[in-house]
Amino acid sequence: MKEPFELEWMGGAAEHHFRKARPETERLPWGSLDPSGYSPAAVESARGSWTEVAINEYRAVASFAEVLRALVDVKAPLDLLGMTSDFLADECSHVELASRMAMELGGAAPRAVDVDQFAMRPGGRTALQRANELVLRVSCIAEAFAGGTAAVSLDKTTHPLPRAVYETILRDEAHHRRLGGLYFEWALSRVDEAELRRLGQVLLSGLKGLAPFWRPRATRPEASPAPPVDELQALGWLTPAQFAPVAREVVVRDILDPLATIGIAVPAEDRAALLG
Ligand SMILES: [Fe+2]
Ligand SMILES: [Fe+2]
Repeated sequence: MKEPFELEWMGGAAEHHFRKARPETERLPWGSLDPSGYSPAAVESARGSWTEVAINEYRAVASFAEVLRALVDVKAPLDLLGMTSDFLADECSHVELASRMAMELGGAAPRAVDVDQFAMRPGGRTALQRANELVLRVSCIAEAFAGGTAAVSLDKTTHPLPRAVYETILRDEAHHRRLGGLYFEWALSRVDEAELRRLGQVLLSGLKGLAPFWRPRATRPEASPAPPVDELQALGWLTPAQFAPVAREVVVRDILDPLATIGIAVPAEDRAALLG
């Protein structure tokens, strides 16, 4: 069931422990963004986008919780489990950063979400298949796509606060993306040809879900009036038309090509259709 996306904060001991684990959050230049310096359309659009980042980061908390559980079940190396556990706190801090960005712009935009649907339900039957699929979907696809595209958005962002938020998030996301390579270094010797082909299909279906980002016309109506592009960029955002080629390039360079080198591949004709 969909409900308004809202966050609670406990304070006290919970906050103290979380701050000790992620002290950098408080060092960002909060309070330095004056929304009155931007057009209302740009502020409105950026508020909505940062709210959606907060939702996606919350989804990443759910995703890494599933990945961690699957890695435990398959008895992956203990240091890999410890590394993955640490990502949960990273993603919680990203939720906080993105929602505070939205607050700086006047408050979160109203969005309805179904948190029960956030966790991915892998189709594999064995612990190894479930771990393969979750690591592929979460680290090799979702994290690689989010990190690769955010790096380009950061390049254009001029205001120091959203820049600092992006830099903090991207520093962590680089580790989150590496998990996939490290995991498959361990898992590949246990994976047969049939499982590699299945993972290729998982990859294809995961990327089909992202295709609206490089085919933006049908699904993403332009806001009216359109916000000035330079203001959107200052606050951290590309227009859908600017984002589309970035999204396609990231999918090829950071997802399809590196996965093909370890044998997780999409058949050539499917690949062409996907990117067309
Ligand atoms: Fe994140
Ligand atoms: Fe992440």
